[in-house]
Amino acid sequence: MKNRFPNIPVFASVLFLIAASLGPAVAQVKGNPAAAPPVREHLLMDSGWRFAFGHPSDAQKDFNTGTGYFSYLAKTGYGDGAAAADFDDRAWRTLDLPHDWAMELPFDGRGSHSHGYKAIGRNFPDSSVGWYRKSFSIPASDLGRRISVEFDGVFRDSQVWVNGHYLGNESSGYNGFGYNISEFLNYGGNNVIAVRVDATMEEGWFYEGAGIYRHTWLVKTDPLHVERDGTFVSSEITNNSARVTARVTVSNEGTNTTSFDIEQTIVDADGETVAQGQVKEARLESWANGEFSCVMEIAHPKLWSIDTPNRHKLVTTIRADGTVVDRYETPFGIRSIRFDPNQGFFLNGQRVELKGANNHQDHAGVGVAIPDALQDYRIERLKAFGCNAYRCSHNPPTPELLNACDRLGLVVIDENRPMGTSSEQLDQLKAMILRDRNHPSVILWSLGNEEWNIEGNEKGARITATMQAFAHHLDPTRLCTVAISGGWGGSSTVIDVAGYNYIKQSNSDRQHARFPHQSGVGTEETTTQGTRGVYFDDRANAHMAPIEKGDSGGNCEMGWKYYAARPYLAGLFYWTGFDYRGEETPFGYPAISSQFGILDTCGFPKDTFYYLKAWWTDQPLLHVLPHWNWPGKEGQEIDVKCFGNCQEIELFLNGKSLGRKTVETNGHLEWRVTYEPGTLLARGYNDGREIITDKVETTGEPAAIQLTPDRAILKADGGDVSVITIQVNDAQGRMVPVAGNEITFGIQGPGKIIGVGNGDPSSHEPDKYFEQVSSVPVGNWHRQVVGGVENRPEVAFDFDDSGWQTAFAGRDGENRGGGNTARSSTNVYRGTFELPAGPNATVSLLVHDLGESEWVYLNGKMVAENVQRSPTGHEFKLAPDLFRTDTNVLAIIATPREERNRGEGNRNAGSPAVVKIVTPPGEWKRSVFNGLAQVIVQSSRKSGEIKLTARAEHLSPATVALRSQAVDPQPSVP
Ligand code: GAL
Repeated sequence: MKNRFPNIPVFASVLFLIAASLGPAVAQVKGNPAAAPPVREHLLMDSGWRFAFGHPSDAQKDFNTGTGYFSYLAKTGYGDGAAAADFDDRAWRTLDLPHDWAMELPFDGRGSHSHGYKAIGRNFPDSSVGWYRKSFSIPASDLGRRISVEFDGVFRDSQVWVNGHYLGNESSGYNGFGYNISEFLNYGGNNVIAVRVDATMEEGWFYEGAGIYRHTWLVKTDPLHVERDGTFVSSEITNNSARVTARVTVSNEGTNTTSFDIEQTIVDADGETVAQGQVKEARLESWANGEFSCVMEIAHPKLWSIDTPNRHKLVTTIRADGTVVDRYETPFGIRSIRFDPNQGFFLNGQRVELKGANNHQDHAGVGVAIPDALQDYRIERLKAFGCNAYRCSHNPPTPELLNACDRLGLVVIDENRPMGTSSEQLDQLKAMILRDRNHPSVILWSLGNEEWNIEGNEKGARITATMQAFAHHLDPTRLCTVAISGGWGGSSTVIDVAGYNYIKQSNSDRQHARFPHQSGVGTEETTTQGTRGVYFDDRANAHMAPIEKGDSGGNCEMGWKYYAARPYLAGLFYWTGFDYRGEETPFGYPAISSQFGILDTCGFPKDTFYYLKAWWTDQPLLHVLPHWNWPGKEGQEIDVKCFGNCQEIELFLNGKSLGRKTVETNGHLEWRVTYEPGTLLARGYNDGREIITDKVETTGEPAAIQLTPDRAILKADGGDVSVITIQVNDAQGRMVPVAGNEITFGIQGPGKIIGVGNGDPSSHEPDKYFEQVSSVPVGNWHRQVVGGVENRPEVAFDFDDSGWQTAFAGRDGENRGGGNTARSSTNVYRGTFELPAGPNATVSLLVHDLGESEWVYLNGKMVAENVQRSPTGHEFKLAPDLFRTDTNVLAIIATPREERNRGEGNRNAGSPAVVKIVTPPGEWKRSVFNGLAQVIVQSSRKSGEIKLTARAEHLSPATVALRSQAVDPQPSVP
């Protein structure tokens, strides 16, 4: 690798400190280089979590958390119930993040319209609070480092504990947040993190999911380190050179004042160093932080653009006493952006029409827990119709979405969630800007959307002005917008870039005339809303033909013509790119997803896709619709349309010309055609010469399944995915556009199916098949001191224990065993439970120690004898014939227990016995909807061949082979 750096002029400027010459010193890593971990570790913490439902109000169902006499808010380390360090979570389900539990729930008409009628929210307290726990070890050698746990996003209202120590509460479902846990950890030992998530309340009016649905990280640094989101790189481009300013905020969390040097290195996409700068002899007192700045020149920089998304990396190295103590990487791009009130948007000095789409963050099969590789798939689907811009409606996205936009070339409006100026609200805006301001894809901050209460009044103007000034302070390189829905005269009087939500409610010409120095962009505009492959309404199933004049006014073509004709506007963002769950307008239950998309929830194109592709790309295109399978409509007239970017189109039915017509720019052509089965062929001409054809044909019956993966080679990293299209064809290999066959899937090799979908906005088929794990605590405990363990009558099912002492019913004071007398004698404990298990469930009994040795009986029959005390407790598989359909009685004889030091925790950590019920997942299946369905296959960490097989009655089956290839594992928490 060649280092071009010596030939490049370098400027080092300093905010706080003295500029100095470039130091050639080679970085040295502390300690033994072979054994030492990197100075900064950023470890993925996604695997091996335990999950169970808690409860918003029923303490017992919430594992008695927060019931201690002294609660976790009263005393540090007093996390009780499921927050306790030693809570027994073996009866919980094991899963990997990201996880969206709302996707796993059934549909229910009592559910929320906004959230797609999933059984979550106020009417469903049993499935609205989720608990996650994970154990992890921290080496003794980490003592002295700063360690934090970071969440990219949890929906929502989360509380976090480490080793029973309460860390805090994050109410936002979209903010990234983190907690420093250095002081709470067990070094050289085991640690437990517990997260309680309450998704009862909605933040948006669209599907938002539930759970830890983005990545989680463990970050380890030196006490002297770059702060979280602590860099800011910006560039000014003049002629052929970029002046890059790199700011870094360093924090000294050590106990002494420290001097250090900062080296800033810019590396291009080929790994070549293109600029370097330094700050020498910086100084920070203990627990102080400071921002330090370097300016560097890069000659002939490779600019970031939509077509050539060149990225650079800033590597910040901090040295104290000649030793490297931190190395922090910031990917960024060098590009210029400008909004002009009269000419729209400019990227690198060139006008770019924003051809955009709004999107929420859910996808078929997985909900909001989108694997990183699926972000790429979704962006490629948008780019396929010429889309070049993405509005993150109506919340900050996952960082991986922005990474994908940076990498693949899409510009982004990054949108804040709550509009307001309280410190909590401004903190959310700040978190978004600090996290996202290095992404070259981000071109505008959106402060809010359709804030009906304020957008048209003085308060709106004040709130907008304050938020905007705050945003400019955090990022002087970008303007702000707010999406306005008709309330002109408030926010619209102060905002940098007016956001027009729908032509119907915005007279942009008038606004532009009144505010000639204000830029404008169409933040929302209607598509030709409809169901993929549907041309006649079927309202009972919420299937609708394309709406040419919907509530939001107009259609896709009207929107594009309006914006294409107004160069002072920067372009538009359709509502929406993809269909999303919830907001089933104009339907209610049983509809479960919206239909605004240019693509359905799987990313399968609707016809609008082709209209846009015709006018948004340079590729020759011709698309004829509808499909031509209309048995029963023979002799009736059918509306036929052609989208195309050629000069003329001629339509033929079964070889007979139906006329040639001229295509208007940004328009389409229509014919009324008397239906007869056969072939409807369109021929497109330029200058009289045929250049392109498209046809629809009446197909035969469904005969075969076809599988097409978007990628056949996967990374064996446990996270990569292939998105496989399932298509049902007739005997001649033509997709049957009305097919609805149910397909069953099997998978072999080192991969798994993580979700299925078909884009049907009223399908109630499951998107997920998974092992169901539930647990029943054994309750109603009584105990009695007895003289021995042999032949005890007290273990019989119907033994009368009504006169016995109650056990395990108290709060902190009553430890396991029920007090000193209990611990020093042999006891019989009796508890009861009822079993809701289904016929094919596996049931096991999880018992903690009650004595040094135990004899366990269920309904009078022995389950285990003379089991010795173990720190991890015991698990017994229970045969189905042991259970009763009514109440079951568990009896445990426990010999006297010797006291041992149990260390921290052990506060009210639940019932001493729990029944765990595991129901295996059903076979994966999904019907195709209008010929298509989707399966998402995820790799494991093993390489090899993954085979997906699809079968259906009366259809020839299909198999597709994917190859999963070994990669360097991503650094992660074991
Ligand atoms: C807009 C709103 C969007 C969505 C859309 C549905 O007014 O900003 O979030 O609700 O309407 O038509």
